[in-house]
Amino acid sequence: MLREALLALSASNQARALIMATPLTRGVVARFVAGETADDALAVSAQLIADGRMVTIDFLGEDTTDPDQAALVADEYVRLLSRLSAEGLASHGRAEVSVKPTAVGLGLADHGYKRALANIARVAAAARNAGTTVTVDMEDNSRVEATLRLVGELRADFPDLGCVIQSYLRRSAADCRVLAVAGSRVRLCKGAYQAPEDVGLSSRDEVDRSYARCMRILLGGGGYPMLATHDPRLIRIAGTAAGLAGRSPDSFEYQMLYGIRPAEQARLAASGAKVRVYLPYGSDWYGYLVRRLAEKPANLALFLRALSSRH
Ligand code: FDA
Repeated sequence: MLREALLALSASNQARALIMATPLTRGVVARFVAGETADDALAVSAQLIADGRMVTIDFLGEDTTDPDQAALVADEYVRLLSRLSAEGLASHGRAEVSVKPTAVGLGLADHGYKRALANIARVAAAARNAGTTVTVDMEDNSRVEATLRLVGELRADFPDLGCVIQSYLRRSAADCRVLAVAGSRVRLCKGAYQAPEDVGLSSRDEVDRSYARCMRILLGGGGYPMLATHDPRLIRIAGTAAGLAGRSPDSFEYQMLYGIRPAEQARLAASGAKVRVYLPYGSDWYGYLVRRLAEKPANLALFLRALSSRH
């Protein structure tokens, strides 16, 4: 119930305005977000990379309603990639970027698909010049079909363009079978959104079982799986499944969010696994923050304490 209410809140413009105007949320935001500027993202990336991890950087924002804004988001990524390259952080894909399709125009009424395609192509070309890659994030269920189509189309020119599969969707094992092919970079996560009963799994157990099933398909195929989870049980299963599939440690990676289970990130990296941290930056942190609160009630308590501590 609480999770549903919070996810609904993440789409509310009124709540967004209210919460973003409250300076006291900053402390909680800082736990999950590198900072507001590209400088902040570069500084945290450099630290994580020096510490043996890799990063995928997300310029925060979603549901863009203006074509010019969508193009500006792509511009920001292009500049960021050029800076990552200049600072030596992009080599060997140590720093890549993650892009939300609706941040670059997918939801626009006027040629949304075309605009998102062109904007992501621009970012992917900049990533190629920088010697690294792009992963296209997956948003709510209404965007899945268009996002997979968009990635499929762009892979003709950018074969290393990554996509995301969410195990809470009933369709996901079938999608994994299609995507588990040579050269295909696929991030597997549980999914941070809600979907109707006929489309999405509702119980945590079912979502976890679906994750394990999708993971085995991806690890058993010819692509490059990116296992995005903080769940200790699934991380254990991943290690075993990778061994059974004959995978070497450099043929897949674990991914976790910035600020979540950092000791586990460090432990996995020290064990020789590839570990990438999803690192968001920017001032439009509202939707991202609320999804993190929805995942863990303890985060909500932290947040409410921050809000009430001055009163
Ligand atoms: P689960 O939620 O069951 O958590 C397992 C354990 O991890 C918890 O018990 C807790 O210890 C810890 N944990 C998890 N979330 C936490 C939090 N917010 N705060 C503190 N501790 C927490 N989703 C999506 O729909 N589209 C996408 O493109 C992506 N991209 C993405 C990239 C990367 C790198 C990651 C790690 C995740 C995503 N996600 C995502 C989010 C994902 O779908 C999911 O919502 C979260 O990762 C939480 O799910 P877990 O697999 O961690 O399991």
